[in-house]
Amino acid sequence: MQLKNDRYLRALCKEPVDRTPIWMMRQAGRYLPEYRATRAQAGDFMSLCKNPELACEVTMQPLRRYPMDAAILFSDILTIPDAMGLGLYFGAGEGPKFERPIRDFMEVVNLPIPDPEQELRYVMDAVRTIRRELNGEVPLIGFSGSPWTLATYMVEGGSSKTFSIIKKMMYSEPEVLHMLLDKLAQSVILYLNAQIAAGAQSVMIFDTWGGVLTPRDYKEYSLSYMQQIVDGLTREADGRKVPVTLFTKNGGLWLEQIAATGCDGVGLDWTMDIGQARARIGDKVALQGNMDPNILLGTPERIRQEVQTILDGYGQGTGHVFNLGHGITPDVDPERVSVFVEAVQSFSPTYHMN
Ligand code: CP3
Repeated sequence: MQLKNDRYLRALCKEPVDRTPIWMMRQAGRYLPEYRATRAQAGDFMSLCKNPELACEVTMQPLRRYPMDAAILFSDILTIPDAMGLGLYFGAGEGPKFERPIRDFMEVVNLPIPDPEQELRYVMDAVRTIRRELNGEVPLIGFSGSPWTLATYMVEGGSSKTFSIIKKMMYSEPEVLHMLLDKLAQSVILYLNAQIAAGAQSVMIFDTWGGVLTPRDYKEYSLSYMQQIVDGLTREADGRKVPVTLFTKNGGLWLEQIAATGCDGVGLDWTMDIGQARARIGDKVALQGNMDPNILLGTPERIRQEVQTILDGYGQGTGHVFNLGHGITPDVDPERVSVFVEAVQSFSPTYHMN
């Protein structure tokens, strides 16, 4: 079926658009009262992820409020380690945790590579349900965590500030970490290709923690595995390119290397100037970003001003997907999101006149 709104896919392929497309990381989430209600109905967060009808419902919620140019699958990056048997749970008011973290060689050897249509079938069912429900209105983005970012949660046993357990592994038993990353890369390739087969029209890889590494270690432990994934992905479906976006938070120093993987889009956090990023890699890839999500806590005037600054920073022409530099936070007023989306819609056409 022909997409009614394909601005997001066109911008990632650097084809002309009438205005800059926009979507928001974590656009379905706790800042929306209707999300909190559906989540309460599901019980807990993972039960919401594992119920394709409810996952579809929360995916659609932000699209009913705002004219977003893309939908993103409602799920989590930690579905893969959960399917590997680590026992994912979310304690009340805490981040994610694993009952059985991965700490030694034998635990890595024994890790299974999940079959996406078996252990992760609920994700593929959610993709199929959402595609049906979207009915061609906007494209659906599938996603996964990067092997490095998944490994940080699996080895640390949850979120971390120092990454000392995984870095201890990196600097004392690097071959064990490489074996883990290799299994994760294989798992991610299968998982994303299954999402594409189920109907995802673009995919994004979240490397939330690549930025805590030295430049050498970033290349060896994070980027090289994202490279394997880019090389292993199905890049076309239904006669159309399936663009892939890589996002390394705090990866601004390494943009050239990220762009050299052959990805289509590079996600930018807010610590980068988007004009400088374009000068560095804009001839190779499209850019996604990069407003500080906390600007949404500011006044409507301040939000509009920031949107204008970022559009100006990127400048004329296609190749920009407007987004936040990281996920929206639960304390944002949904009215402020309307101001944000309307500003991008009303200010951006003048950047696409020729
Ligand atoms: O963007 C979207 O709307 C799609 C859904 C999505 C979620 N998580 C839903 C979610 C996506 C793309 C993710 C990715 C994700 N999950 C990342 C990478 C992106 C990033 O934010 O850096 C990471 C590191 C995770 C792991 C994870 N999941 C954490 C650290 C948490 C706790 C966060 C918190 O603020 O408490 C989650 C839970 C989670 N994933 C929530 C949502 C909406 C909140 C769960 C809830 O309490 O309802």
